Amino acid sequence: MIEFKGVRFRYDNEGPEALQGVDLEIPDGIFLVVAGHNGSGKSTLSKHINGLLLPTEGQVLVNGLDTRDENNLLSIRQQVGMVFQNPDNQLVTTIVEEDVAFGPENLGVPSPEIRVRVDEALKKVGMTAYAESAAHRLSGGQKQRIAIAGMLAMEPKILVLDEATAMLDPKGREELLQTVYELNRKNGMTVIMITQYMEEAVMADRVVVMNGGQIVMDDVPQAIFSRGDELRALGLDVPEIVRIREDLQKAGVSLPLTVLTDSQLAEALCPLF
Ligand SMILES: Nc1ncnc2c1ncn2[C@@H]1O[C@H](COP(=O)(O)OP(=O)(O)OP(=O)(O)O)[C@@H](O)[C@H]1O
Ligand SMILES: [Mg+2]
Repeated sequence: MIEFKGVRFRYDNEGPEALQGVDLEIPDGIFLVVAGHNGSGKSTLSKHINGLLLPTEGQVLVNGLDTRDENNLLSIRQQVGMVFQNPDNQLVTTIVEEDVAFGPENLGVPSPEIRVRVDEALKKVGMTAYAESAAHRLSGGQKQRIAIAGMLAMEPKILVLDEATAMLDPKGREELLQTVYELNRKNGMTVIMITQYMEEAVMADRVVVMNGGQIVMDDVPQAIFSRGDELRALGLDVPEIVRIREDLQKAGVSLPLTVLTDSQLAEALCPLF
């Protein structure tokens, strides 16, 4: 479990705080999406989870370990894997399997075990066939999957993705999302996904919306997306299906709030014809 307790954070003495009193509990095994427009504090929040940033006030506990205690940082960083936006900045070596091995090597994992971990990690992200490929020749989506494999090889309990799909095309986004979703559902990994694409929040167990360094919404997707006008006022969009549902509502056709995907929409519309 990850706990934010009254967390405030300042990058410098001028200007407003980037986090203005964040209280948040993230239970193990959850798929959490954090949304919010530019500058709302999402990256600042995510960097607190592995102690890249430390609270100016308040505390962050990762499985009971306070990030402000230097003695905890190694253990925390073994538990939390972070994937960032730009796939090119995250690959460190030229060959895919060497890249995936880099993290566990730095943790001092013995070679035979590294071999096993690399193979397993590549399998989990569907990139086994590319083990000996040149990393720079992969597509953006493939590079992100290698970056995730590199994290998995370190066997983190928690995976944090900070707009990791932002630079991908729609197909790459969809594939990466599916990969991460399966890691959560099949392997029980806690996933914290930061995104501006509200479509990606549909599959989440819970969605946190940030604005001005604060959490302004925290609920299941169905409840979040029933507040379309508030989301738009916060500079966020709603998924296309929700937009269609809203339009139908205005035209006098009421559909349940549980309708978030195209198949659910089709199912809900069928009885009306
Ligand atoms: N290194 C930094 N130094 C000073 N201020 C910063 C720094 N990084 C972020 N900020 C400021 O802190 C606030 C929160 O930024 P943050 O990067 O956490 O937002 P974000 O929600 O991740 O935005 P984006 O969607 O653009 O990634 C913003 O006002 C931003 O300008
Ligand atoms: Mg950010």
